[in-house]
Amino acid sequence: MTVNQPIYIGLLGAGTVGSGVIKILTNNAGNIEKKVGAPVHIKKILVRSPEKLRDAVFEESLIVTNIDDILNDDDISIVVEVMGGEQPAKDYMMRALKAGKHVVTANKDVVARYGRDLFALAEQNQVDFLFEGSVGGGIPIIRPLKQCMAANQISEVMGIVNGTTNYMLTKMTRDRVDFAEVLAEAQAKGYAEADPTADVGGWDAARKIAILASIAFGTRVSVDDVYVEGITNISLKDIEYASELGYVIKLLAIAKDDGNGINVRVHPAFIASTHPLAAVNDVFNAVFIKGDAVGEAMFYGRGAGQMPTASAVTADIIDVARDIHHHISSRILCTCYDQKPLRSVDQTESPFFIRLLVEDKPGVLAAIAGAFGAQQVSLNSVIQKRKVDSCAELVLITYKVSTANLRLAITSLSGMSVVREVQSVIRVEEE
Ligand code: NAP
Ligand code: HSE
Repeated sequence: MTVNQPIYIGLLGAGTVGSGVIKILTNNAGNIEKKVGAPVHIKKILVRSPEKLRDAVFEESLIVTNIDDILNDDDISIVVEVMGGEQPAKDYMMRALKAGKHVVTANKDVVARYGRDLFALAEQNQVDFLFEGSVGGGIPIIRPLKQCMAANQISEVMGIVNGTTNYMLTKMTRDRVDFAEVLAEAQAKGYAEADPTADVGGWDAARKIAILASIAFGTRVSVDDVYVEGITNISLKDIEYASELGYVIKLLAIAKDDGNGINVRVHPAFIASTHPLAAVNDVFNAVFIKGDAVGEAMFYGRGAGQMPTASAVTADIIDVARDIHHHISSRILCTCYDQKPLRSVDQTESPFFIRLLVEDKPGVLAAIAGAFGAQQVSLNSVIQKRKVDSCAELVLITYKVSTANLRLAITSLSGMSVVREVQSVIRVEEE
């Protein structure tokens, strides 16, 4: 290869992120060429609807609608997948790897479920498979975990990794706007995916924490191994109680290795308003990592959106292009060398916030305390009692209890005639 021979990309998708990648490769072409040692050009762009107006400027002649036009083009050495969804994205990436092309993607759906297969193909074909944009948008997190923190025994990864829900919870907390209104706003601003179920249901965060846990613990964790609770049941009332009690509610993605196994979960949680994650607001993401050598490290930044995500994707492109240009390989492929056991959420322990609607008459509190006690759930405090119609609203915080015991206590409460409704059960994440 001569010094200035261009490196060609086949871009799959020219939507939000794809358009961002086009903008960066165009606007920063000079700098990128200097960093790589050769110009980096997009040769073809695959889309579904060629007639659509795009958010980036490029020659119309680059557009193709058949993947084979990219896979059969020997000039193209890097395939950048920013289409989204499992299929046909997974199939296209597998075919690209088999064709000996390096693959860069921001697709957490595919990486979180089929990472193992894609890594195996990349290994067999001696090509790169990079996915920095799949977690945390523009925040560097995959490379730091795989490379900069490689010397550590990681015990915990905990973060806010979904921008949409963080934006929603922030708005609900600050402006007391209800769930439906704030979701519509998040969609209008382009934070939420077209179908927001994955965001508000916790599945987007589950995919991201599965990817982070796999790297942190050297053990393959699939999205199907993650316990998931979304924010759809979080009401303004819970938010108000949290504030009164000195907490905020955040959707947390947590992966812990306690030495006996790892547990990976996504759920809303009360965290103390003094906790550093409590200050992570709006669409921002943050990830805390605890390592035995480094101690605590935190990564913070824009976790979604066109340019932050395109920044991470383009950085991967630059890394691959540099390797191609210099005929070297700095490939770091699958880092899952271990098979640690996975622990179910029932084996985890934490305090819980519980909001109940109960009959307002003597003896009810004692009966409720008895139901908790029967399952070894100790109550730390019964902190509020408000009148709601003819009933009383009880707000309880337990001591640290096993999730399994808490579930049994809630089942028994739900069957009691004096309990009208178990309105909320939310974990309290201790520092
Ligand atoms: P998007 O705006 O919906 O764009 C998707 C693009 O892919 C469109 O150009 C679409 O073509 C094309 N496409 C989809 N299916 C196709 C098919 N079967 N054949 C050919 N082209 C197809 O999506 P996005 O928001 O850019 O997201 C892309 C990826 O980045 C996803 O994996 C997403 O999870 C990830 N990501 C997004 C963000 C974010 O903030 N948006 C952040 C982090 C990661 P048409 O334009 O013709 O419809
Ligand atoms: N919908 C995702 C979020 C986009 O809100 O974080 C980034 O993956």
